[in-house]
Amino acid sequence: LYRQAAPTALPTFVLVGPSGGGKTALLTLAERKTVAQTHTSTAPLAIEALLPSDVVPASSHYRAPGDPAYERARRFLLLDTPGHGKLRHFATTQLINPTNVRGIIFVVDAASVAEEAGLNEAAEYLHDVLLALQKRYTGAPTSKGPKAIPVLIAANKLDLFTALPPHLVRIQLERAVSTVRKSRAKGLKDSGVALGGEDDGLDQEREWLGEGGEGHFEFQHMEEVGTGVVVKGGNVIGGDGTDVKSWFEWIGAQL
Ligand code: GTP
Ligand code: MG
Repeated sequence: LYRQAAPTALPTFVLVGPSGGGKTALLTLAERKTVAQTHTSTAPLAIEALLPSDVVPASSHYRAPGDPAYERARRFLLLDTPGHGKLRHFATTQLINPTNVRGIIFVVDAASVAEEAGLNEAAEYLHDVLLALQKRYTGAPTSKGPKAIPVLIAANKLDLFTALPPHLVRIQLERAVSTVRKSRAKGLKDSGVALGGEDDGLDQEREWLGEGGEGHFEFQHMEEVGTGVVVKGGNVIGGDGTDVKSWFEWIGAQL
């Protein structure tokens, strides 16, 4: 008699990103297949979702639709978190202690990052998310490191005419994250000097995002610390309807 494997938690994708980016709108779309009015979130919210029928989970390329294993592989959890600066601990706990996190989806309003204030807010949050993933990787007890958690930057609201195209969202975010990285390093250094600390060289190294040295930060540098980062555009609402196919394809590629 064979024992059935214990039911494991569904693969989980965590929605993070600044307030107003469209995380909850995307969650409602994934849950109800239709968009609904949202309000700014104050608490995390998890829903169970299914990949759209035209997206194939990576693990099931050789399975036929209708095969129970295929149907099972299309299920996942989507966890929404509040983007407000004071409520981000909900997201960061998920990053530090992931149960079955397969990916992080950083939702950003592609029009807001066309302006300096929106760009800086997004870059600060993104920097901290990437640094948390880097620490999780480099701080792991085994030399092999924990299973990598990839990041999708979902450049949302492409229906707005002020929205930056995804390749510019990428360039702008890389530039702004470079600036955040530099100012965080300076902050650490200053506080180290103030405390008269000797041993802060190592700490500073740990707090430095990416392995690419002191030059310009690129998302590609995250691959050396186990985190693939891609930017894909879309829109949850507006324009000629919704266009979130490339995001679901990315989710499918992690399943
Ligand atoms: P917080 O909960 O505060 O972190 O924000 P959020 O990321 O959950 O944003 P939410 O989903 O509530 O969306 C914010 C606003 O953007 C809402 O008014 C949405 O209707 C709107 N919105 C979401 N996606 C799109 C889009 O693709 N295009 C346009 N034009 N508006 C969108
Ligand atoms: Mg929300």
